[in-house]
Amino acid sequence: MTKVVAVVGVTGNQGGSVAKRFLQDARYHVRGLTRDPTSAKAEELAEQGVEVVRADLNDVENLKEAFAGASLIFTVTNYWEPFFRPDCRQKAAELGISCRRHAYDVEYQQGKNMADAAAATCGTLDDNGFIASTLSHAGNCSQGKFKELYHFDAKADVFPGYVRDNHPELAKKMSCVQTGYFMSSYKLAPNSYFVKQADGSFVMRFPTAPTKPVPHLAVNEDTGSFVYAVSQMPPGRSYMAEGWTCSWLDFMRIWSGVTGHKGRYEQVSDTDMIKAAQDQAFGAELNDMFLYSDNPGYDGGDDTLLTAPDIRRASIECPMTTLEQYMRTADWSTVTS
Ligand SMILES: NC(=O)c1ccc[n+]([C@@H]2O[C@H](COP(=O)([O-])OP(=O)(O)OC[C@H]3O[C@@H](n4cnc5c(N)ncnc54)[C@H](OP(=O)(O)O)[C@@H]3O)[C@@H](O)[C@H]2O)c1
Repeated sequence: MTKVVAVVGVTGNQGGSVAKRFLQDARYHVRGLTRDPTSAKAEELAEQGVEVVRADLNDVENLKEAFAGASLIFTVTNYWEPFFRPDCRQKAAELGISCRRHAYDVEYQQGKNMADAAAATCGTLDDNGFIASTLSHAGNCSQGKFKELYHFDAKADVFPGYVRDNHPELAKKMSCVQTGYFMSSYKLAPNSYFVKQADGSFVMRFPTAPTKPVPHLAVNEDTGSFVYAVSQMPPGRSYMAEGWTCSWLDFMRIWSGVTGHKGRYEQVSDTDMIKAAQDQAFGAELNDMFLYSDNPGYDGGDDTLLTAPDIRRASIECPMTTLEQYMRTADWSTVTS
């Protein structure tokens, strides 16, 4: 009999990658959640064998139905949708809070809904049957220095925070997977942080110190392999999904070597980082992230997180894409043209 793996965010980067990997294992039946099963992406997934079900993360009851009977649940939340959506901006203004804080509230509630719904089917889950995509807790790991790195804390406050405090049985079956900087993120904010100079060279500018190492993940290629590998590990562990660790200085060295373009990294001030963003709140959220990545670190300075080599040491396959491999196949035209 096949086991159901319920995949949240199946039409997106992380969930799509997870679905793709589990589809390759005939022991699993992939059930993917989306708000719109009629979208082109959802229909494409259905053709590939995904059971596409309608579910909204804002509605705990429909999540209970979507998770019912699952052996494995993969969860992910998207801070940036409630951050950017015009109706959410309006709602934040009505509530008299920043759009950053409002997006935290929405993401936290969605995470809590998924945890409550997963707890309702805890009995059907495998021993390591609840795998949550998350990030480190910036507020706690920085001893309160970073109070507004909302897209980190909204995840960590639920995975593991809320789950441990409210659903101890589910917590026993949980693995928390932090995800490194997406190697594809250069596409998200063109002409702001990675730009062409008048002399034809390229510069990347963040407030992180040039030599501070940070994790990098080929999100579409590798989230699935990593989560599939994690599902074979014992429960209760925390991970960093990454294919490569290096500083932004090294990132640009590798990029120049691969593309043949002259490029460099420059550490900039908070003001310059925020100014470079078209949306100031977005600039402020990213600025906090790059400063936090500097100290205590993107992972909050937690050196206990397991990575792909640790999984391989347990004799479990965990193929990951290196930064150079990713760069060789990526389309850099949004930066170079
Ligand atoms: N960019 C980076 O470098 C980086 C690094 C680490 C972590 N992250 C985190 O990654 C997260 C985004 O992950 P991603 O890139 O995989 O997302 P994505 O590609 O933007 O996709 C978002 C997915 O979430 C689903 N979704 C959103 N709201 C929903 C709702 N209310 N109900 C049901 N489904 C909903 C969407 O499904 P439908 O639209 O089909 O309903 C879609 O499948 C963010 O929270 C971000 O903080 C980003």
